[in-house]
Amino acid sequence: MDAESAVTTSDGYSLSAMTYGDATTAKAGVLLAGAMGVQQRYYAGFASWLAGQGYFVATFDYRGMGRSRPERYRRSLRGFQADVDDWARQDTAAMVDFMAARVSGRPLLWVGHSLGGQIFGLVPNRERVSAMLTVATGSGYWLENSQRLRLYVWWLWFVAVPLAMRLTGYFPGRRLRKIGDLPRGVMTQWRRWCLNREYVVGAEGEAVRRDYAAVRTPICSLSFTDDEYMSARNIESIHGFYAAAPREMKRIAPADVGEERIGHFGFFRERYAKNLWPLASAWLGRFAAAALLALGLGGSARPAAAGDGLALTPPMGWNSWNKFACDVSEKLIKETADALVSTGLKDAGYEYVVIDDCWQVSREASGRIVADPVRFPSGIKALADYVHAKGLKFGLYSDAGTGTCQKRPGSKGHELIDARTYGEWGVDYLKYDWCNTEGQDQRDAYIRMSQALRKSGRPIVFSMCEWGSSRPWLWGQGVGHLWRSTGDIQDCWDCGKSWGGMGVVHIIDQQAELYPYAGPGHWNDPDMLEVGNGGLNPNETRAHFSFWALFAAPLMSGNDLRAMAPETLAVLSNREVIAVDQDALGMQGRRVRDEGAKEVWMKPLADGARAVILFNRGTEAGDVAVNWEDLGFFPEGKALVRDLWKKADVGVMQRRYETKVEPHGVVMLRITAQAGEGRE
Ligand code: GAL
Repeated sequence: MDAESAVTTSDGYSLSAMTYGDATTAKAGVLLAGAMGVQQRYYAGFASWLAGQGYFVATFDYRGMGRSRPERYRRSLRGFQADVDDWARQDTAAMVDFMAARVSGRPLLWVGHSLGGQIFGLVPNRERVSAMLTVATGSGYWLENSQRLRLYVWWLWFVAVPLAMRLTGYFPGRRLRKIGDLPRGVMTQWRRWCLNREYVVGAEGEAVRRDYAAVRTPICSLSFTDDEYMSARNIESIHGFYAAAPREMKRIAPADVGEERIGHFGFFRERYAKNLWPLASAWLGRFAAAALLALGLGGSARPAAAGDGLALTPPMGWNSWNKFACDVSEKLIKETADALVSTGLKDAGYEYVVIDDCWQVSREASGRIVADPVRFPSGIKALADYVHAKGLKFGLYSDAGTGTCQKRPGSKGHELIDARTYGEWGVDYLKYDWCNTEGQDQRDAYIRMSQALRKSGRPIVFSMCEWGSSRPWLWGQGVGHLWRSTGDIQDCWDCGKSWGGMGVVHIIDQQAELYPYAGPGHWNDPDMLEVGNGGLNPNETRAHFSFWALFAAPLMSGNDLRAMAPETLAVLSNREVIAVDQDALGMQGRRVRDEGAKEVWMKPLADGARAVILFNRGTEAGDVAVNWEDLGFFPEGKALVRDLWKKADVGVMQRRYETKVEPHGVVMLRITAQAGEGRE
């Protein structure tokens, strides 16, 4: 059922909003922000269809438009005061609050058609929105509009608009059969954007550019190859302004969905209900589910960006398993802590010393866990004290089941006492495995230990290790700080792809789609490092370490730090690569170009630069190129390229950079657009 509401903005304006669906039972809210000059009734069919999919949906008219156009301005908008800023900062903000209140405790999603996706960065309360789907949203920069529109847009911006506004005091689009009537202020501001190479962020200045760059809301872009207004370049550049947001770019040709034409406006027509609308609802459904779980646990209407303040950057340290398996002892741990300091790895950021499986042997009658008295004669507390005295942190391992993977006692039924014991011992990090858990549910089991750790009296980083089996990226935020996303790593490039483990390249491939789920306090964990364990050649070793950094993965070295080859130390302590991993923005990188054996991957960094991996999967050396366009930079601009393994600037390049990449190897770069070339 649809209903009309009057929504009042904070500057006192009354807007018309239509809602569809039942707010009390809906799984999520969807706010539909319309295109320039398009009235909300145009979206009615799509809105009511979405309501049928279980959403509570609202459309609205921006002030001065459609049903939000005051009666006395019915005939002419002359004298009506409004600009695009009012539409974004007032009208849309009021709609966000209106919707958030109606669906409180459940996620609010945003569907932006064209302008509706462009203004998101201006909306002050946009953090209440969990995800945004943009439809035909691109920059309106006139020189990037599609070729066949050039003459028309020239005429529009330099003749029709200035002339019509001078004569009538507004933009009389209805009479001109162009766009629809628009208030003078709206048209003036929008024209400024369209004439600026960087559209809204170029026209509005640094503060606005920063606002766009700070958006972290996951975005899915649907765009259409036959859009008569938006070229591929327009689409890329607006989404490039949302530099920190995880983005999925879907470009659809009408033929892909059995159509002849979609264009700029087509998507919302009912004839596409069967082939295009389900694409939108599938993506919205995915994010509604993820956001709902995050909300459910946090109990607040807004998922905390970084939870409890732990692991704001991916944890770094050392773990015993990859090299030593069950051969752990007090001596090994002390010598490793010493080595972290003496090799300089501690100074490079490695912090946690974690004992994996096999430190525990039994339980006391009271239920308290007992460490192996032969291997750890001084006890775990004394060992943790030793590690702390070095300025490092200390971690342990347990398992959600009845026994660990090596058949030591698990924590099932002993979560509280174990967590309390860890707290007393001074544990800073717990890796929690998933063997021997028959009949248990991952989420329940990890929540149980997460809650127990919270009562332990110590801040403890919680590393969840259920091998990605229940897709923990969908529910793990707020439960743990990191979650394994695959089976065990093996010390090889492309061996075994079974649950017994897999080589580095298979793990890389399994991370590709997980980038939207990582962020400060909640990381995907592609498993511990095999650097220095002998199974990878030097190219493969650098590729392994580079990808882990690009993935914002935990960097847990897994080799013998007491006897390292200088090459191993050089890889582990490459500070420029580590800085990519530890970048404060906390974004996981993603693949932006895939040409078979040659790929380009990109991670946006806090200062606007991009970390880039040129990857050659092949068995022979070959050239790999990155175009600035792949990075969300201006396609024709200039950028400084720095090689992070050579630790040297390559130079200022225009448009692209191409270089030779060794087989199974990478070239890792940091690319910074030059001032005045698209980004500061
Ligand atoms: C596996 C886990 C490994 C290691 C091992 C110990 O399940 O994935 O990283 O902890 O158990 O037995």
